[in-house]
Amino acid sequence: MGNVDILVLDFGSQFTQLIARRLREFGIYAEIVPYFEKIEAIRSRKPKGIILSGGPASVYEEDAYKPNTEIFNLGLPILGICYGMQYLMDYFDGKVEKALAHEYGKANLDIVSECELFKDCKDGEIVWMSHGDRVEVLGKGFQAVAKSLNSPYAAVQNKEKKIYAVQFHPEVAHSKEGGKYLFNFAHNICGANPEWNMKNFAQNEIKKLAQIAADGKVLCGVSGGVDSSVVATLLYRAIGDRLVPVFVDHGLLRAGEREAVEKMFAQNLGVPLVVVDASELFLDRLAGVCDPETKRKIIGETFIEVFEREAKKYNTNGEIKYLAQGTLYPDVIESVSVKGPSKTIKSHHNVGGLPEWMKFELIEPLRELFKDEVRALGRELGMPEEMLMRHPFPGPGLAIRIMGEVNKVDLDLLRKADVIFLDELNRSGYYDKVWQAFCVLLNVRSVGVMGDNRTYDNTICVRAVEAIDGMSATFAHLPHQLLENISNRIINEVEGINRVVYDITSKPPGTIEWE
Ligand code: XMP
Repeated sequence: MGNVDILVLDFGSQFTQLIARRLREFGIYAEIVPYFEKIEAIRSRKPKGIILSGGPASVYEEDAYKPNTEIFNLGLPILGICYGMQYLMDYFDGKVEKALAHEYGKANLDIVSECELFKDCKDGEIVWMSHGDRVEVLGKGFQAVAKSLNSPYAAVQNKEKKIYAVQFHPEVAHSKEGGKYLFNFAHNICGANPEWNMKNFAQNEIKKLAQIAADGKVLCGVSGGVDSSVVATLLYRAIGDRLVPVFVDHGLLRAGEREAVEKMFAQNLGVPLVVVDASELFLDRLAGVCDPETKRKIIGETFIEVFEREAKKYNTNGEIKYLAQGTLYPDVIESVSVKGPSKTIKSHHNVGGLPEWMKFELIEPLRELFKDEVRALGRELGMPEEMLMRHPFPGPGLAIRIMGEVNKVDLDLLRKADVIFLDELNRSGYYDKVWQAFCVLLNVRSVGVMGDNRTYDNTICVRAVEAIDGMSATFAHLPHQLLENISNRIINEVEGINRVVYDITSKPPGTIEWE
């Protein structure tokens, strides 16, 4: 792992990822590690400063998270945020207690003393508070530099030791100048330069990949989604025709999906995309299967079987040495999260179940990036906008959007409705405003009347959600007029559908997909 400008020690706040995001927006490269990261590991990254994140615990509790105190001997500037501040005050012999009045939401920050954190920032700006404890007595050597209505110590500093702390959350968007405060810490106090941008990242990564995969072929599964397409493009720039991109068409794709991927590859990459049409095989195996988890399992296993068969063709003399994957930074952080691994709600199909001979060396060029950074990278690489702005699409495809058994007739019905829904969203400008939008075939029949005839047909459920990362989501408040257009068009244009319903469930308690 390479050098990093700012290292963020994570104490479990739901906002920790945002600290790195904000800093990167300002060109400062930041990464997150758990609060218990070993001091040698911290030192080896050569950070110019350390940020202690917020966290849900109280510092005076017996089992409160505490970092290795060696961090104070590294000679680096430190910024504590919320819990991070309370830890610092506690460590330097101050006092933290349960606040009489909890402070959640907006507050105005009054700067009371000169501080590098607030250089060139407006006084009285809104910051976002979220704390139940507060500092009653400052740590030794600290002075208050800003206050809010309920926090006399909203920001403090020990200039000599270069230790700073804020009670509010500068990383959240509601803190108007929060990004600037973080930037000031990194730049003015730590001396980090804003040199992180996608142009540099792309150039460095291409060089790095060329060195890592200096010989042999790289196998890359392509799904049509943003991540794997960006990985393939990056690799192509690095190693040219030693890239073997494989796209398995499992027959569960949306209308035009396969053609779009083929077109993107033909126009942007000079290597042939290996397209495997395995739709018959998948549909055969799914015949008669209704249980959601069994469907997922069959699709996952069949996928690996097909992928393996194809990979063998390109490895007759052991040419393949690497497997490329589109792992993103949130997955990396999640796997080392201080909160521990989360419970499996649905089994996602990924390459975890690959056979032994295919356990090639892994290449994960996006493992330092957030989703929107991947899009920016794709843009830097000249990839088409419609590919970059695509909604996520689940590995098991439309199979988990058809309730019960999956068959060709139902798949076609669903595809037709889906095309109309997406068309209406694109026309109204709502496609880019939502995280995901799709149709679900409920396999519930109802009585209707069309013309003078009684109908007894299928129901389509329309689902659109807003989300930041898909971990939680709210149903999108689409205008009624738009919903009406969608409903009219689906019923008029798709034979076999006589009813359209809109899903008004958020996540939790629902999941985004229906199965
Ligand atoms: P749920 O339904 O769990 O979905 O709320 C969260 C996000 O994950 C996507 N999803 C999948 N993605 N393989 C994937 O690559 C899968 O098996 C899978 N299942 C769900 C879903 O579309 C949403 O964006």
